[in-house]
Amino acid sequence: MTPFVMAVANRKGGTGKTTTAVNLAVGFARRGVRTLLVDLDTQGHAGIGLGVVAARDQPTAHDIYTIGPEALSRAIRPTHNPYLDIAPAHMQMLHPGQGVPPGLLAEAIALSGEKRDYQLVIVDTPPSLDALMVTALAAAHGVIIPFLPHPLSAEGVQQFAKVFFSVRLSNNPALKFFALTPVQANLNVLIHKNIIEQLRNQYGAGRLTVPIRTDIKVAEAFAFQQSVLDYAPTSRGARDYDLLTEEIGRSWSILEANTPPLE
Ligand SMILES: Nc1ncnc2c1ncn2[C@@H]1O[C@H](COP(=O)(O)OP(=O)(O)OP(=O)(O)O)[C@@H](O)[C@H]1O
Ligand SMILES: [Mg+2]
Repeated sequence: MTPFVMAVANRKGGTGKTTTAVNLAVGFARRGVRTLLVDLDTQGHAGIGLGVVAARDQPTAHDIYTIGPEALSRAIRPTHNPYLDIAPAHMQMLHPGQGVPPGLLAEAIALSGEKRDYQLVIVDTPPSLDALMVTALAAAHGVIIPFLPHPLSAEGVQQFAKVFFSVRLSNNPALKFFALTPVQANLNVLIHKNIIEQLRNQYGAGRLTVPIRTDIKVAEAFAFQQSVLDYAPTSRGARDYDLLTEEIGRSWSILEANTPPLE
């Protein structure tokens, strides 16, 4: 089958991309969705957050840029969750320059089906808008843009939206969905409320997802190399990511009505 591909992206750094990618990957895996998390950020945080790091001589997701699309399958490793695999990042690689075929990651994902019949692929991306990001968007059906509800965030989201529509037009008509997820949000803070409202007016209410509130357990979970869903299942952060999984799963038709309930 062809998996649904979701990129988690924002050109700004530190907006909760990796945290969202990891927790959605675990959220869907817990619902019985066969999921692959691809770490395209050379910081390697998604892998670190799940306790899977590639040693110097081990294959990585980034090998597709130096070897070719067939390299992705070799990089795939199991995680503690039987429904979730991960292709960790190459932590020393320089970003590919121009000249990368935009369809490279899409082709690699198609080939990864030989390893396992994935239903969902989540791609964590670095804070950039370069050729690597184009490959991520050219492979995706939907993009989640986590943003901090701060004054400068709207600008970052706007710049990103332009790239989204340009890739959709020139490379990937299957790129249909995009969602904006407020992260580290506190709806009692006026500026947070205002920024969320501004983006809602600009992009439409349907594009704004449930917010992820600030929760120290989310940051702590990373230090313990776990998702917050595993580390602190009753925490605010776990609850918010659970709602986000459910919301995205339903509105992007990733979760079917007969999917087994949460463990
Ligand atoms: N809801 C939250 N509550 C508290 N801390 C959070 C929350 N979400 C993320 N963080 C923390 O904020 C920091 C940045 O998050 P994260 O690494 O997910 O961002 P990122 O967008 O992937 O960053 P980069 O652009 O560097 O890849 C991390 O230390 C993370 O633990
Ligand atoms: Mg990150």
